[in-house]
Amino acid sequence: MALSEANLAAFHPAADRPLAISRESANGPRLLRRLQGDAISAPYALFRVKPLARTLGAEIEGVDLRLPLTEELKQELNRALLEWKVLFFRNQRITSEQQAAFARNWGELENHPFLPQGDSADVVRFAKDDKTAGRENNWHADVTWRLTPALGAVLRLIETPASGGGDTIWSDAAAAYDNLPEEIRARIDGLTAIHDFTHVFGRALPPDQLAAKQAEFPAAEHPIVRVHPETGRKTLFVNSSFTTRIVGLEDHESEKVLQYLFRQIAIPEYHVRFRWEPDTVAFWDNRALQHYAVNDYYPERRVAERISIVGDRPYGYGGATD
Ligand SMILES: [Fe+2]
Repeated sequence: MALSEANLAAFHPAADRPLAISRESANGPRLLRRLQGDAISAPYALFRVKPLARTLGAEIEGVDLRLPLTEELKQELNRALLEWKVLFFRNQRITSEQQAAFARNWGELENHPFLPQGDSADVVRFAKDDKTAGRENNWHADVTWRLTPALGAVLRLIETPASGGGDTIWSDAAAAYDNLPEEIRARIDGLTAIHDFTHVFGRALPPDQLAAKQAEFPAAEHPIVRVHPETGRKTLFVNSSFTTRIVGLEDHESEKVLQYLFRQIAIPEYHVRFRWEPDTVAFWDNRALQHYAVNDYYPERRVAERISIVGDRPYGYGGATD
């Protein structure tokens, strides 16, 4: 449930009290749950699953993305997506159209108003080289400045840097939430934050175009703790690219809490880091993760195409913790 500024104080009487952030309990074992609570993974019948990290990231073997999915295969892949959050498919020589057809199994495709297009408006083409340096090396979930951020994305690597590099890292936002101290979880459940594209995509726009885009995509208010609509898990839903402030807090307190929460996403135990090869496809759940495109290959060339799936309006939990 989203809260407006007006009823924030009634819901959270301590909202204006500074949050005590300490370095204690910042290290030691992490709670790493792949599924909700004590849920147990069921076997997969239609493909093999090769895990790459404890709670997220698995290679899927035995699926040919050139072919339409049967309903059974789609259901089983969706179960794998919810369990592993990002799925990798190697050796997939597919076209943009086949990539789009695969993505369309999960919903309508999304157009991105700022990023360069491929052959159609549904395709974002990232072609990075000595003229266009990659700028996606900042933790984020995609398009959280929309009222309805993407459900997920299908990314296909076309060309990898000649001398290696260009990995992508994903971070499990439910693990980041699970490991927050109880006091902080209790404090941020029910709070909302503002997400805005302006300081990422707005810098390159002349003032009149910026104003038009801001009118088309006004800043969005989302819960800081998002409940995943399919798994019911609580995820940390603020990111260092697009989240600008917490509603109802003074600027300095908002910034302190946000910086603390951003640091949680960067904790390595919540990560999977993937080394790409050409013709590898990743399908990730943008509701469950954040990601970071490592920029260690400039000025070499890296080319990828992304197709995103329209998502739903994020909602929170209403204050309780599990
Ligand atoms: Fe992204």
